[in-house]
Amino acid sequence: MESVKEEIEKLKKEKRAVILAHYYVPGEVQEIADYIGDSYFLSKKARETDAEVILFAGVSFMGESAKILNPERMVLLPDPQADCPMAHMASPEKIREMRDRYEDLAVVCYINSSARLKTLSDVCVTSSNAVDIVRKLPNKNIFFIPDGNLGAYVAAQVPEKNVILNEGYCPVHREITLEDVNKARKDHPGAFLLVHPECTAEVVKKADFAGSTSEIIHFACQSERKEFLIGTEEGVLWELKQKCPEKDFYPVKSEQCCPGMKKVTLEKVRDALKEEKCQVILDEETAQKARMPLDRMLELGK
Ligand code: 13P
Ligand code: SF4
Repeated sequence: MESVKEEIEKLKKEKRAVILAHYYVPGEVQEIADYIGDSYFLSKKARETDAEVILFAGVSFMGESAKILNPERMVLLPDPQADCPMAHMASPEKIREMRDRYEDLAVVCYINSSARLKTLSDVCVTSSNAVDIVRKLPNKNIFFIPDGNLGAYVAAQVPEKNVILNEGYCPVHREITLEDVNKARKDHPGAFLLVHPECTAEVVKKADFAGSTSEIIHFACQSERKEFLIGTEEGVLWELKQKCPEKDFYPVKSEQCCPGMKKVTLEKVRDALKEEKCQVILDEETAQKARMPLDRMLELGK
């Protein structure tokens, strides 16, 4: 009998499908992907591909972004319930209020956001290009949505801008506390601490390096150090172990798990491809309006 992985390989060819996977989905799903990466890399791949079907192993804002960038292709999200709570943590009223208050305001929207929030924004960013893009904008006043922690990280790096913070957060990264960091440092005194900027400012301050998932992986692989404490979702450990089997990686705490990302399983990937189900559908107006900030990100991020 064929294994689920073999079935997926066959279906990929049959449907002319490409599988994009984020580092946070389970290792066995990363294993069958054509491309694994951080949000910026995957959105570039979603726009460039000529595959007929894009299956996005990730959460709903990722599937939506792929569809917005590629409206003519079929985009599948293996579990439509796989959602990111932070993607909804900004309010259209607050955005309107900020626009009324500051004449030159740029609404900068982390890609971890619903399509609706993107339609109300001027430019999207990911954790790997946010600092760069905010720096390049002509606007002095920036309303950064939805992530207050990434916003604070950007504000610290770009002091010449007035970055107004929103109150959204990633529940997974917010749970990594200063106490956890102190304990982990005690348990592994020689290890370097690498964290994602979705962590709180006090945790980021303690880190030896902060960056996107790809940047964390790159940093660990090229470093001469042998031991690392990882302050982001545990899924990155899979790629870290593949790329640097000779090094040791320890999560800062044992529960660094994104429930949305872990909803993506091999069986759901197979079924979505086989039945062409779980298609991402967006109304035309939303897709069109949400495309502008994503295109601008890809342009400014070059
Ligand atoms: P990056 O992969 O861009 O670092 O994003 C992290 C994340 O939280 C994705 O949901
Ligand atoms: Fe959202 Fe956090 Fe999960 Fe990323 S790790 S998808 S930001 S809940």
